[in-house]
Amino acid sequence: MSGQRVCVSDFEEDARKSLPKAVYDYYRSGADEQHTLVDNVAAFNRWHLVPRVLRDVSSIDLSVSLLGQRLSMPLCVSATAMQRMAHPEGETATARACLAADTGMMLSSWATSTIEEVMSAMTSSVGGGGVLWLQLYIYKDRELTLSLVRRAEEAEYKAIFVTVDTPYLGRRWNDVRNRFKLPSHLSLPNFKSASLAFSEGNYGNDSGLAVYVSKAIDPTLCWDDITWLKKHTHLPVIVKGILTGEDAVQAVNYGVDGILVSNHGARQLDGVPATLDVLEEVVSAVQGRCEVYMDGGARRGTDVLKALALGAKAVFIGRPVLWGLACQGEQGVSEVLELLREELRLAMALAGCRSVSEINRSLVRRREFTNRM
Ligand SMILES: Cc1cc2nc3c(=O)[nH]c(=O)nc-3n(C[C@H](O)[C@H](O)[C@H](O)COP(=O)(O)O)c2cc1C
Repeated sequence: MSGQRVCVSDFEEDARKSLPKAVYDYYRSGADEQHTLVDNVAAFNRWHLVPRVLRDVSSIDLSVSLLGQRLSMPLCVSATAMQRMAHPEGETATARACLAADTGMMLSSWATSTIEEVMSAMTSSVGGGGVLWLQLYIYKDRELTLSLVRRAEEAEYKAIFVTVDTPYLGRRWNDVRNRFKLPSHLSLPNFKSASLAFSEGNYGNDSGLAVYVSKAIDPTLCWDDITWLKKHTHLPVIVKGILTGEDAVQAVNYGVDGILVSNHGARQLDGVPATLDVLEEVVSAVQGRCEVYMDGGARRGTDVLKALALGAKAVFIGRPVLWGLACQGEQGVSEVLELLREELRLAMALAGCRSVSEINRSLVRRREFTNRM
């Protein structure tokens, strides 16, 4: 491993060196030519921060409340599948790091740990206090889908994030080239049958995951299924994968409790806008009728600050957590979360914001267009 890691890219660089190529490719890649992947990160540089001075920034309060749950900071962990490819403790290590950081973690439907064991990792350590949410893919088998929801309810998860941007899997060239599938010692243990656990199957020359999705995930999904889901759970329902004001209004009309502005880390439809660029449109369409969060490309505390200024209630991160996990398991994820927390604290102080409630639209200004950005 290299020397001290001072930013998220240092974690990525060390993770790249330690992970098998097919795993690093799966974690890192976007769809097709990866234009949106690059743009998700670049979008943050299209905005300037406009600081205020002389405001006594000796004490900064980063805490927020999400769906009524208090968190120590407006930075949470998005669902990323198959974390045991990065570290033997996988999602349980991430949960313990989130507990210690007193923040929220969204567990993927495609976790390599069970819903119950991740909750017990989240609650067994001493101190801190995190929150767990379940990310839900809606399977063609609706009873199976509801069994995941029931298990999340019984294990006291606090919300369901239903992913709405994946009727089919985006085409990720590296995964096709690598014929990506889970290493043989791993499975998706929330599913009993070997084919749904992604532990066996003939995937031909394709990405194994793309074949899995086309067999298992329901492409008929439509707005009425949000009503169906809400009818079957008492947990708050958040839609993950909204990119337009129009769909955001529709989501509100269907009674969702929250919207996660997301393009799935640029892994679905290449060519869609960077999430930061559509955040304001969604926030203004929603008009405060539900909470709005965002993910995609946030790698620095200043990125988080810009997204909060554009109206996100919280910012979620995907890949940076995987890099921390690959570097050093729970300790690595903790380091990534604390690094971003300190970057955000410093950015807020230098911008003259003493609490998250003082962050508003006047803090950011769109840069003049230049070809070099
Ligand atoms: C390796 C990987 C696996 C992912 N798995 C899931 C998943 O199982 N379900 C889901 O809704 N989103 C999944 N996502 C998307 C993330 O939840 C999130 O939207 C995205 O990673 C945020 O962008 P960032 O990685 O640039 O922070 C995955 C993303 C990555 C990189």
